[in-house]
Amino acid sequence: MLHPNINSLEAFEAKYRRQVDPWDFKFSRYERRRYAATLGALGRAHYLDAFEPGCSIGEFTALLAPRCDRLLATDISLTAARRAVVRCAEFPGVEVKCADIRSELPSGPFELVVFSEIGYYFDAADLGDIATRLAATISGGGEFIAVHWLGHSTDHALHGDEVHDLLRSHLPLEWVCGNRFDGFRIDQWRKLIDTRARDDGRGRHADLTADPDAVELERGARPGLHRQRPLDQVGSEARIVGRLDLRTARLPP
Ligand SMILES: C[S@@+](CC[C@H](N)C(=O)[O-])C[C@H]1O[C@@H](n2cnc3c(N)ncnc32)[C@H](O)[C@@H]1O
Repeated sequence: MLHPNINSLEAFEAKYRRQVDPWDFKFSRYERRRYAATLGALGRAHYLDAFEPGCSIGEFTALLAPRCDRLLATDISLTAARRAVVRCAEFPGVEVKCADIRSELPSGPFELVVFSEIGYYFDAADLGDIATRLAATISGGGEFIAVHWLGHSTDHALHGDEVHDLLRSHLPLEWVCGNRFDGFRIDQWRKLIDTRARDDGRGRHADLTADPDAVELERGARPGLHRQRPLDQVGSEARIVGRLDLRTARLPP
């Protein structure tokens, strides 16, 4: 049985204090192969705005950054987020924040959300809720990509296959394709562009999905998708709020 605190903020923070790179993201052949497959699966060469929750120490963030004008990366562990800041220092478009995806999400819109090896830390109810809210941050035509290891771990609430099955049933997005690799799988979804959009006066149809709820509501998702605290209302300076959450991971000068 999963220990109730095993996936808490404190548990991840303690993990990063014990080890600089707990999963050996920097040197593991498996991780580098997984990163290459993830980058290879992306639908576009370049994105204006992307979001990577659970960025850890920023190893994948640094690989994704050259393909994005702006990339917001978050992690529940402040120590991890601070390492990600250092790792991505050469990329001015990267912003790293310390935040818990369960309660602190940016409002977007993003052309890309990368949900990589984080889904199995949540129970099914939380994952469904996170999926619905993440989908609401994606702009029309934007992509959601999920990547998860297929092994077993005592600190995972769900197996990688269960994560992707749950995402497939909860994401109010169009599933595009999926692939199984040696040890992990990748699935991709896309947000539909609302073709009911009004004519913009020039004989074209405007993309109404600038309203991120438009497509979801049409497809019957629950209202109130943005009830969580929008992450982008958080100031750019580090704020101590009693716990380790909601702080920009910028290093002191
Ligand atoms: C296994 S690592 C994956 C890192 C990276 N996404 C990758 O694919 O290489 C999982 C990361 O998710 C973070 N994490 C776990 N729960 C989180 C939460 N509720 N909100 C934000 N980050 C979380 C952990 O701190 C950890 O850094």
